[in-house]
Amino acid sequence: MAGSALVMAPPAPTTPQFEIRAMTPDDLMAVVELERDIYPQPWSMRVFEEELALSNRTYLVAELAAGELLGYGGFLLVEDDAHITTLAVGESARGRRLGTHLMVALVAAALARGARHLTLEVRVSNKAAQALYRRFGFAPVGLRKNYYRNEDAMVMWATDIDQAGYQARMESIIELLEEQA
Ligand SMILES: CC(C)(COP(=O)(O)OP(=O)(O)OC[C@H]1O[C@@H](n2cnc3c(N)ncnc32)[C@H](O)[C@@H]1OP(=O)(O)O)[C@@H](O)C(=O)NCCC(=O)NCCS
Repeated sequence: MAGSALVMAPPAPTTPQFEIRAMTPDDLMAVVELERDIYPQPWSMRVFEEELALSNRTYLVAELAAGELLGYGGFLLVEDDAHITTLAVGESARGRRLGTHLMVALVAAALARGARHLTLEVRVSNKAAQALYRRFGFAPVGLRKNYYRNEDAMVMWATDIDQAGYQARMESIIELLEEQA
C-alpha cells in the first residue's frame, strides 16, 4: 500500500484532562485574552471573528472540563494546502503536550478537509515551536525577511500528509500521547 493515498484521518484525541473542539464565537473573549498574553502583536477580536466566518478556515480550542480555555490553533485551506495560522498554549499549561494534542487534531481536521500538505511560518528564534513542528514532519524551506516586525520567519512545510509514511508518523505521535495520558 506504500504510496497510495489514504483517506482515513487519525482520531481527534481527547484526554480526561481536556477536550479539543471547534472554536465558536463564544470562545473569543477567552481566546483574545490568551492571545494578548502570548503574542507581542496579538490578533484582535475582529480578526478572530473574521477568521471564524470564513468557510475555508478551521479553528480548534483545548479546554478543561471546567470550561477554562488552555490553548487554540487553526489553519486556512487553499486547494490542498493547509496553512497553520496560529497555535498557542497558555504559559501555565505548557509542557504538558497540549500543543501536540492540538497539532494532532489540526492535522486530522486538515486531512478530513482534503489537505495533502501543511505549511506555516515561525519566528527564527522560536526553537520550542520549531521542535514541535519538526516532530510533525515540518522541514524548513526558506525565510521570509522581516515577516514579523523585528524578526524573520522560517517557512516550514510538511508534505504528502495523506500518504502512508505520514500516517505512520501520526500514529507514533498518538501512541506517545496515549502512553503519557
Ligand atoms: C509552541 C507551543 C504551542 C507548544 O505548546 P506545549 O503545549 O508546551 O507543547 P508540548 O508540551 O506539546 O511540547 C511538544 C514539543 O514541543 C517542543 N517544546 C515545547 N516546549 C519547548 C521548550 N520550552 N523548549 C524546547 N522545546 C520545546 C518539544 O519538542 C516538545 O516535545 P518534547 O517535550 O518531547 O521534547 C507553546 O510553547 C506556545 O504557545 N508558545 C507561544 C506561541 C507560539 O510560539 N506558537 C507557535 C507560533 S508559530
